[in-house]
Amino acid sequence: MLLRLDHIAIAVPDLERAIHRFADDLGIPLAGRDSVPTQKTTTAFFPIPGTRIELVHPLDQSGPIQAFLDKRGGGLHHLCFATDDLEGDVETLRAKGYQFITPGPVAGAHNSRVIFIHPKSCDGVLIELVAEQR
Ligand code: CO
Repeated sequence: MLLRLDHIAIAVPDLERAIHRFADDLGIPLAGRDSVPTQKTTTAFFPIPGTRIELVHPLDQSGPIQAFLDKRGGGLHHLCFATDDLEGDVETLRAKGYQFITPGPVAGAHNSRVIFIHPKSCDGVLIELVAEQR
């Protein structure tokens, strides 16, 4: 079952500049950074009540975020919902015809397990599901 909006991810072409914007101009304190080598992505997190903004940037000019930036510049990249039953939700959604980017959950930021629903299953919006960590 989906529990809450875990984060909203924005793909940014210049990570330091985007961090400056959120931290200094918008006044949302930077909580941390994390790299996810398996997804060729580096991230910066800005918690705000109820959720957080996640800036995503390619680790080495390759991978899915680089492809997104090459195609569209920056922009909203995905929404992520936390679930208390990742495998169960994947199974249920798959039975309803939803398509996923990978066959099963993969490693995400902060040692989490995540899976992405294909945008063509959600009117063009990329949706990530993350297993709630206890
Ligand atoms: Co995410």
